[in-house]
Amino acid sequence: FVVQQLRQALLSWYAHQGRDLPWRHSRDPYAIWISEIMLQQTQVTTVIPYYRRWLQRFPNVDSLAAADLQDVLKTWEGLGYYARARNLHRAAQTIGQQHGGRFPQQFDQALALSGIGRTTAGGILSAAFNQPWPILDGNVKRVLTRLIALDCPPSQALPELWDLSTTLLSPTQPRDFNQALMDLGATLCTRRHPNCQQCPWQPYCRAYNLNVQSELPMSEAR
Ligand code: ADE
Repeated sequence: FVVQQLRQALLSWYAHQGRDLPWRHSRDPYAIWISEIMLQQTQVTTVIPYYRRWLQRFPNVDSLAAADLQDVLKTWEGLGYYARARNLHRAAQTIGQQHGGRFPQQFDQALALSGIGRTTAGGILSAAFNQPWPILDGNVKRVLTRLIALDCPPSQALPELWDLSTTLLSPTQPRDFNQALMDLGATLCTRRHPNCQQCPWQPYCRAYNLNVQSELPMSEAR
């Protein structure tokens, strides 16, 4: 079945070509949560030094919950989109009050925290606990849109794209699968000049086969 071949091809590509990123050495949901929030609107290379500094300054949920908001914002300084830092602080206090200081392992409880949407909840729970939740961030939307040569802007097909991310997700290796999907979007299946010659999904990619990879995803009508 082609789904199994897609999983297998992506996972073995990731084993050889995946990026070595600091948060991938951690299984601590707190550290992974911090990384996912930073990565929402900021490039990997910018995030890395901030991620390290943050964990020195606030090594766990308790230290973040107890901190002054001004110190939290100061540590965030330079990353932009400061609502993310305020949400981290607020969510740390919720985790202290409602979850005994431990990041919740239940999807709905993670999703209920300030600043955590469906992709972030899935990204954290798959990376920290190897739970099989799909993700659909900007990079993943582009990869999946090309895979099926989606003939409308991604925003008009979100249910279908979520279904596809769910169907493809490896039930045995969801952590590696999701990380691999993000790497594919970040390193090969880039918005401009995708490197289809190196892509593990080239044989299965409808956009490549139709030679429309550079035209997709279709731009959002506005
Ligand atoms: N962007 C969002 N989450 C990421 C992750 N875990 N690794 C790399 N890039 C990401």
